[in-house]
Amino acid sequence: MGHTKKVKMAADSKTKTTIIKLRKQKREGTKTVLVTAYDYPQAHIADGAGVDCILVGDSLGMTTLGHKTTIPVTMDQMISSAESVSRGANDALLIGDMPYMSYQISNESAVENAGRFIKAGMDMVKVEGAMIERIKAICDSGIMVMSHLGLTPHTRAKMGGYRVQGKTANQAEIVLKQALALQEAGCSALLLEAMPKEPAAMIAKELDIPVYGIGAGDEVDGQLVIFHDLTGLFWDFKSKFVKRYCEAGQLIQNALKDYASEVRGGAFPAQENFYEIKENELEKLLGDSKWKYEADRVENQATPKHSATPITTNKTSSVKR
Ligand code: KIV
Repeated sequence: MGHTKKVKMAADSKTKTTIIKLRKQKREGTKTVLVTAYDYPQAHIADGAGVDCILVGDSLGMTTLGHKTTIPVTMDQMISSAESVSRGANDALLIGDMPYMSYQISNESAVENAGRFIKAGMDMVKVEGAMIERIKAICDSGIMVMSHLGLTPHTRAKMGGYRVQGKTANQAEIVLKQALALQEAGCSALLLEAMPKEPAAMIAKELDIPVYGIGAGDEVDGQLVIFHDLTGLFWDFKSKFVKRYCEAGQLIQNALKDYASEVRGGAFPAQENFYEIKENELEKLLGDSKWKYEADRVENQATPKHSATPITTNKTSSVKR
């Protein structure tokens, strides 16, 4: 008892992105890479690609649940998505997006809902709009907040639709003032959506916290793109700021077409996909000629598809034979 013992805290990987790394990247002018993900495989893929941050966005509603907007997304849906993303990512800093009406009602419910994201494995939450009092309450509770200004989909009706923000000097100055107030309230990062590059760059320069953009030009501290937009898995529309890096949807559909045609043509499954039965067990089974299978086999004089020939073990399978 008389000596202090160094206690090793478990959990995070040594290579995990932290807020300290994000601040350093801003200081040094290294661009930060952010992408959304909504489930375990997407998180696994994004994390393996070495992105710095994964946002479990409420764009889940559109990319994954098929809604026209993000408004119907619930906390329970976001938490389920956040939990699976946290199981798939080791290194990326994880951000949970607070859905519509999860932070507007009261400071208490905003803090409670932010806490649910942390329990689901997120490191930070994202909150839309300049809701200073709510955001301060979350920050004061010890939870890191990324604020989201510019085009904020939760208030799209008030903005007159999905419109680029900060296009006039007056508008841009309002966003800058909001950004400074959010930094003062304790935010750890800021995301600017759909703004001309110059005012976004001015905000990034003015603020000490990292300022990222989605459709806000190239002079911010990093970029966020929606997973489904950049991989070709979303077809409803394509925003000007999106660049597609592959057509995964097309690739997957082609694979499914090949699969369907092989099933219909009898090429799949093939010998290497079959499980074996020992010759003597098969003989025992077929000994009683009541089975239609055996009658057909004799009649066709053909080797049945379920051949008793031993096959090599498929090392990639975890199924016990
Ligand atoms: O939900 C989301 O993915 C977002 C981005 C569009 C910024 O909020």
